[in-house]
Amino acid sequence: MIDRRPLIAGNWKMFKTCSEAVETAKQLAHLVGIDQEVDVMIAPPFTALEKVSDAIKESHLSLGAQNLFWESEGAYTGEISPSMLISAGCEYVIIGHSERRQYFGESDETVNRKIRAAVNHDLKPILCVGESEKDRESNDTFSVLDKQMKIGLKGFSLDDLKLLIIAYEPVWAIGTGKTATVDQAQEVHGFLRSTLDKSYGNKLAKSIRILYGGSVKPNNISELMAMADVDGALVGGASLDPETFSNIVHFLK
Ligand code: 13P
Repeated sequence: MIDRRPLIAGNWKMFKTCSEAVETAKQLAHLVGIDQEVDVMIAPPFTALEKVSDAIKESHLSLGAQNLFWESEGAYTGEISPSMLISAGCEYVIIGHSERRQYFGESDETVNRKIRAAVNHDLKPILCVGESEKDRESNDTFSVLDKQMKIGLKGFSLDDLKLLIIAYEPVWAIGTGKTATVDQAQEVHGFLRSTLDKSYGNKLAKSIRILYGGSVKPNNISELMAMADVDGALVGGASLDPETFSNIVHFLK
């Protein structure tokens, strides 16, 4: 059996100035300590990446970015390249978050280009997929997810995807306090793994980590993590407070 190491990731979205981010990261590093069983990543805003990277150097925490642009450099006002993220200390990058799809016009096609850029630079892409409330109500959940996966991952080889992580974030559960039930989460995670199996075979499907995101809190993480295909969490609101987030990280204890 392939052992999938859990990953608990914090997406700080557009919260925290640089000094606030550094302070939070330091407190979190202290509270998390050395957890041998779980990987932990935080994704602060771009402006805080480098300073947070310095602050967590000796800790168990890893750094991620919330977005990237696929070109290496050029006249692309406001965008950030993969090598800029690497030089700021990033190891992971979140791609295709539903807020980016909803407010900034990202499509499955742009998501695909961003994953390609991450893969080419050995950044670990966290591909976010998820259905809206309307999709779920009209029984379109699986077709929507299938399309996001197929187009998002179009043209990649098996080897390209060895660093890939998937995050299932039902849009209706983000920041709403509504969590998918553990059975809903397991059902979708199982489906996502089966789509990977069909396209890339069992070995890759079994090794890819699939995170759940959407109102994850200290009081629901354990039951989510008990599901066979839930390999971690992508946490928004509850990752902003070091104590709350460290309680999520320590879900095994
Ligand atoms: P919340 O945990 O605040 O619902 O946000 C989830 C999310 O969007 C993480 O990327």
